[in-house]
Amino acid sequence: MSAKQTLLTGLQPSGDLHIGNYFGALKPFLDAYRDYDSFLMLADYHALTSLRDPNELRANTVNLARTYLAAGFDPEQAVIFKQSDVSEHTELAWIFDCVVTVPFLMQAHAYKDKVAKGLEANAGLFTYPMLMAADILLYDTDVVPVGEDQRQHIEYAREAATKFNAGFGELFKRPKELILPSVGVVPGTDGAKMSKSYGNTIPLFASRDELSEAVMGIVTDSGAGRPENVYAIHKLVKGEKELETLYAENEGQYKVLKEALIEDLDSFLAPMREKYESISDDEISRVLKAGAAKARERVGAKMDAVRKAVGVR
Ligand code: ADP
Ligand code: TRP
Repeated sequence: MSAKQTLLTGLQPSGDLHIGNYFGALKPFLDAYRDYDSFLMLADYHALTSLRDPNELRANTVNLARTYLAAGFDPEQAVIFKQSDVSEHTELAWIFDCVVTVPFLMQAHAYKDKVAKGLEANAGLFTYPMLMAADILLYDTDVVPVGEDQRQHIEYAREAATKFNAGFGELFKRPKELILPSVGVVPGTDGAKMSKSYGNTIPLFASRDELSEAVMGIVTDSGAGRPENVYAIHKLVKGEKELETLYAENEGQYKVLKEALIEDLDSFLAPMREKYESISDDEISRVLKAGAAKARERVGAKMDAVRKAVGVR
């Protein structure tokens, strides 16, 4: 057993990532994961709560793995794997569904938000937090790095552990969320939170032309000397001192400032983009296959103990 604490996190392969995802979710984790025994999961079964196109789910999953590798995660230092490759996750989720109550699940944000928008929630979305609890608890996870929006789900995982342990014996460790110090909210091209649902993103792997188009489209309020929406994105990729000078020298010159931002974003993103394009599907298959084997090995004994504890073995 390693002396390091266990860390597990996951992202849903539900579409291409944007720079808000990178600076808000990937980058802080990239800086921390080597200090832990780390598991990095592609939550493909969670994505099935919202995706209906099998080719899209497949492509998104491969591209998310490619994104992790291009961003710099080393598969020798983190187990990178696909949720659906380790069937113990869905098996344990069923057991957790049987220990928590319907009113408890009705309080979960993902479900409440959907219902509040008048949309029909499938039963998978309703029990989503118990699949996430299984993802986490199977690995005796100590910490779960997530964005603020996922905090409630970690509370749900703790609650599932408590309920299970009270009913069947102490098998699960209670995990803690790790809300990483991040850049806060990265604004989109319209100044609101960058989000794929708002169509205001700068894609992480945008070509130079796509970058130019997105940056030129950033909304600037006329009048102010410093275009805040441009500056807020600029400071993610360039030091504040240099920026102070640049913005002071070009006060009111929005076009010049945007061109400078395109240049700086492109220098920052180009190496990642090149790496992304150089990673073959074969390499991804190898990484995911090795990751699945390690993950299965890790959870086998725990799942056996659970089956015995509940009485199916
Ligand atoms: P989206 O809003 O584009 O659908 P997700 O909800 O899939 O993004 O976000 C995945 C993770 O990326 C979130 O948990 C959050 O921490 C981070 N994230 C998303 N958008 C931003 C943003 N604009 N600024 C900072 N972090 C973000
Ligand atoms: N629900 C998370 C999200 O949408 C993804 C996720 C699934 C996850 N399982 C997890 C995150 C386990 C951390 C740990 O962002």
